[in-house]
Amino acid sequence: MTRLLVLVLIIAVFDGASSLVVKQPPVDWGGKWCGAGTCVNIAQEGNKVTGRETTFGTVGTGTVDGNSITYTWPAGSAWAGTFSGTRSGSTISWQGGGSWSLEALPHPAGDITVSVDVFPSRYKNVENLNPPTHPTRADLVAHLYQGHDPMHLFKNPRLLKFAGDLKWSNVGNNPTDACYLVNLANASFMVEAGCYVGTSTKAWSHCMQQRGPSGVVLAVDTWLGDLATWVEHVDAGSRMLTDDVLRDGRQSLYDQFMLNMQQNNVTNVVPFSATSIIGARWLATMNFVPDLAYIDTAHEEGETAIELELYWRLLKPGGILAGDDYPGWPAVKHDVDAFVARHELVLQFAPSRNTWFVVKQ
Ligand SMILES: C[S@@+](CC[C@H](N)C(=O)[O-])C[C@H]1O[C@@H](n2cnc3c(N)ncnc32)[C@H](O)[C@@H]1O
Repeated sequence: MTRLLVLVLIIAVFDGASSLVVKQPPVDWGGKWCGAGTCVNIAQEGNKVTGRETTFGTVGTGTVDGNSITYTWPAGSAWAGTFSGTRSGSTISWQGGGSWSLEALPHPAGDITVSVDVFPSRYKNVENLNPPTHPTRADLVAHLYQGHDPMHLFKNPRLLKFAGDLKWSNVGNNPTDACYLVNLANASFMVEAGCYVGTSTKAWSHCMQQRGPSGVVLAVDTWLGDLATWVEHVDAGSRMLTDDVLRDGRQSLYDQFMLNMQQNNVTNVVPFSATSIIGARWLATMNFVPDLAYIDTAHEEGETAIELELYWRLLKPGGILAGDDYPGWPAVKHDVDAFVARHELVLQFAPSRNTWFVVKQ
């Protein structure tokens, strides 16, 4: 099973821009073949096949060529000799009589396709109903909070204190990167996926505000942290105060984010407590088009790849996709490099060189 998983994973490739195709190795003849009251497990490597049986171990070898097989039972076995057969689907007919049928495959046949299409058929009608728009803050609040301002809805139910900003937030420490990208994208609507306690979100908010009163930032985060949060519990050293974000077994990151927004009177941000994938799919479904999408989530290989594809597809020409931690985070570097190569893009950097970006043509 493990070997199968490894095989399947190492040959996972992107098929076009939107679906992940996991290709199975071409094992045409492998499987459990049974006939005349006995079963043989055939394994194939190239055009060579080996038969194994539970009691006797290896019980023959052979070669395959298209739909033909030549199989030799060893001397001393009940069927000693070499036999030729022809395969039709899950049946092998042996010359001179007899047949085998395929009773079990070593693994599922065919390719497994994991769709990450943001426009699956069940959303088609919804998508077609809405022309592409830049939502206002009121639009987002209407859809996500039934019209009630989330900044007012948050009442600090756990009576927490804000434990401070993330010390190593790249955008937080380099707010000129944020304004550079907002201006380059001519942004009036942007999405940040991965906001943590809002250090970078405040920078985006500030830059959007500088461009005019109507700019809005959709802040997408589960506020459930990443693997490190769950392993380490305590955010030791990353913020001004030590903050056990799991003190009662529940994440308090959303509370921290909202406290940060409230204390800084941030009024052009709308939090969206969802995974980055749901965030992107929701935007696609609503046909809300961001000018700028910034990704700073879990930085897991493969997960980042899917995020890049989904947010890229949301953008219109001139739109910018940006992110954090390239090249310092190997998984991000891997997925960004592959993404850039796949779409034949030019990877660029904001002035501090801590923020990568690509522009959609
Ligand atoms: C590195 S922190 C973001 C830091 C922030 N951008 C800053 O610079 O201040 C990563 C955040 O991504 C969020 N996250 C991780 N995986 C996610 C996912 N699949 N969907 C949404 N948010 C995710 C975590 O909850 C965490 O808040």
